[in-house]
Amino acid sequence: MTHEQGEWERIIAENPGHSAWYIDRFRGLAERGEDIVGEARLVDAMVGRGATILDAGCGPGRLGGYLHRVGHVVVGVDVDPALIAAAEADHPGPTWVAGNLADLDRPERFDVIVCAGNVVTFVAPSTRVDILRRFADHLDLDGRAVVGFGAGRGYPFAEFLDDARTAGLVPDVLLSSWDLRPFTDDSGFLVAVLRRS
Ligand SMILES: C[S@@+](CC[C@H](N)C(=O)[O-])C[C@H]1O[C@@H](n2cnc3c(N)ncnc32)[C@H](O)[C@@H]1O
Repeated sequence: MTHEQGEWERIIAENPGHSAWYIDRFRGLAERGEDIVGEARLVDAMVGRGATILDAGCGPGRLGGYLHRVGHVVVGVDVDPALIAAAEADHPGPTWVAGNLADLDRPERFDVIVCAGNVVTFVAPSTRVDILRRFADHLDLDGRAVVGFGAGRGYPFAEFLDDARTAGLVPDVLLSSWDLRPFTDDSGFLVAVLRRS
């Protein structure tokens, strides 16, 4: 299906080198031994071993790759085919799929959908509710979606939480960081743990 162009698609259309830069950035961080999987450690703590996990907007696969290595069944979906190719090269094992989350239509029902790294601020605003609805539809009955993004990126937290409710997702826990700091009115980051309403 054709959708309004999102911010990431606009960036890579304007700057074809952007994807390669982004891939190199994470390869460099990994080579230097930086901790680039904090979000995935939180997700790992939410489920038993062998859970079914969707990495939504997976990029070059840093989180899905880790979650696969610690024993989960991982699907990663991203709209940027260059990033999916990097995920396949660097993190073999998960099912990596090039596609728009607005078209998400997988046979799995997931224990967790993790959507980290400001993905929801890069999708086209006209697809936000549809994407959240697809998250809801792809969750197991007890499943949770964990969505993390920063303030000042054109998607106010209150609007996101309204969209989530419209899409059939309600908050279980709101945090301001992936290391479990509480969310307050002043928080500059939101990690929303959502379940089906
Ligand atoms: C800042 S990157 C974060 C990547 C990854 N989640 C991480 O944290 O390493 C944002 C990602 O969102 C993806 N993205 C943006 N719009 C998308 C859409 N509509 N469907 C799927 N992926 C999308 C981009 O391709 C990009 O990989």
